Amino acid sequence: MGKLDGKVAVITGGSTGMALAGAKLFVDEGAHVFITGRRQEALDEAVRQIGRNVTGVRGDASDLDDLDRLYDTVKREKGSIDVLWASAGGGEPALLGEITEAQFDTWFGLNARGTLFTVQKALPLFNDGGSILMTGSNASLGAFPGWSVYAGSKAVQQAWARVWLNELKDRRIRVNVLTPGQVATAKQEELFDEATMRQFESLIPRGRMGHPDEIATAALFLASDDSSYVNGMELVADGGTTAL
Ligand SMILES: NC(=O)c1ccc[n+]([C@@H]2O[C@H](COP(=O)([O-])OP(=O)(O)OC[C@H]3O[C@@H](n4cnc5c(N)ncnc54)[C@H](OP(=O)(O)O)[C@@H]3O)[C@@H](O)[C@H]2O)c1
Repeated sequence: MGKLDGKVAVITGGSTGMALAGAKLFVDEGAHVFITGRRQEALDEAVRQIGRNVTGVRGDASDLDDLDRLYDTVKREKGSIDVLWASAGGGEPALLGEITEAQFDTWFGLNARGTLFTVQKALPLFNDGGSILMTGSNASLGAFPGWSVYAGSKAVQQAWARVWLNELKDRRIRVNVLTPGQVATAKQEELFDEATMRQFESLIPRGRMGHPDEIATAALFLASDDSSYVNGMELVADGGTTAL
């Protein structure tokens, strides 16, 4: 018996990286999964890799019309949602003094505004007793130079989890934040050169970057009844970096 048998899960930004690893695991555990991403090609490849019980819906998680299209598809195909993992997010470095309005608007538009509307627009379809998780970042727990826009745009999630779990308590919907540290994804390789990656690793007590599968298992915990009494928490999966 799977931990998500018969459940419907929506994962934004699920076509690569840790959310794709999570989508595969959720399907292995019995869920039907809807994944999103902006590039149709990457989405098609992810659907091919997952192989069954998956629907790819192209869209930008910061675009409210795309979110409406996503939930229209979910409603038409499955009727309701048990698990929402709002994972689409991102950032770029810029030191205070050099931050542009466009950078602020882009990353708050996706990580904060996009996440809020991803959750809000899912609510009419949400089954009582469901689970909402949002991907934060340990950047919002540390003091990493250049990452204030990203850190700030992710830090809102902890506050929202607390308020929303209270607002949703009569529906027994839990809300938690999954907070990774450095995870070896394609995005990391795009952002950082080899020397920078090794420097990051030297700061991680676990001695290496995380693997997407190690975030997927933490997501499964928060999505499933294994965490039935965990609510409003931030689960930090960063190899111990922010514990120092
Ligand atoms: N990797 C890390 O070390 C790390 C650490 C801490 C937190 N995080 C957070 O973890 C989450 C996933 O990170 P990742 O590194 O796995 O991501 P990623 O590789 O950059 O992207 C994962 C997926 O998200 C999709 N995506 C990106 N922007 C999107 C948007 N606006 N709307 C819809 N889909 C979008 C991408 O597809 P398209 O490009 O086709 O849209 C891709 O399929 C993000 O929220 C990130 O901030 C990552």
